[in-house]
Amino acid sequence: MTATTAAIVAEDVTRTYQLDGLEVPALRGVSLTVGAGDYLAIVGTSGSGKSTLMHLLGGLDRPTGGTLLIGGRDVSTLSPNEMAELRNTTIGFVFQSFHLLSRTTAQDNVGLPLVYRGVGRRERRARAAAMLERVGLAHRMTHRPNQMSGGEQQRVAIARALVTGPSVLLADEPTGNLDSATGQSVLALLESLNADGVALVLVTHDQSVAARAQRQIVMRDGLIA
Ligand SMILES: Nc1ncnc2c1ncn2[C@@H]1O[C@H](COP(=O)(O)OP(=O)(O)OP(=O)(O)O)[C@@H](O)[C@H]1O
Ligand SMILES: [Mg+2]
Repeated sequence: MTATTAAIVAEDVTRTYQLDGLEVPALRGVSLTVGAGDYLAIVGTSGSGKSTLMHLLGGLDRPTGGTLLIGGRDVSTLSPNEMAELRNTTIGFVFQSFHLLSRTTAQDNVGLPLVYRGVGRRERRARAAAMLERVGLAHRMTHRPNQMSGGEQQRVAIARALVTGPSVLLADEPTGNLDSATGQSVLALLESLNADGVALVLVTHDQSVAARAQRQIVMRDGLIA
């Protein structure tokens, strides 16, 4: 795989948190390439650095050391605004705890990333509706998160991550809070997006989920084992 087809390249990336004057080395030198259309599972024990790595890959946080290229751009050279724009155009992020706006309908939650793109309200609503249909929620457009099941909320979060047409979808335990049948349907949805060419990186504790990926990465104590 060449650098031009790689969506994300991490080279010897470290991330050390500062906590009450102490250094917490969460990532201690990780190298990883996410190619266009890749399907990658990240596994590892609790505290091994999976979410920290996902935040870096998604441009939500910056490395302490090493080099990180997202969409061919070295994040250390980007301003916060440039980072936000790169995220908005390249990455979809699905959080384990959904991060939906509680007083906002499914349709407007999904349309939110388009606000930052300057897309007008009509167009936003149309694109959000199409995405919600894609995830099987055409009948839940006007529901708020507390009026939906966990699996439905997870699908709203996926629709929101996809509405901007990202080339990479990062999902941190997308099936962690779901029963196994709902988890399977969310996974099938993610895999159908991957089949359409979206690179998929997911964190999971479930070995049967990880086994479906093209590649597995095992994290241990801040390193790829
Ligand atoms: N903001 C922070 N400040 C200080 N230490 C942190 C912070 N966030 C995470 N850590 C520490 O960094 C390490 C890696 O955390 P991380 O959240 O990446 O783990 P994880 O592999 O995602 O775990 P889990 O499977 O439980 O979600 C842990 O030891 C954690 O305590
Ligand atoms: Mg985590």
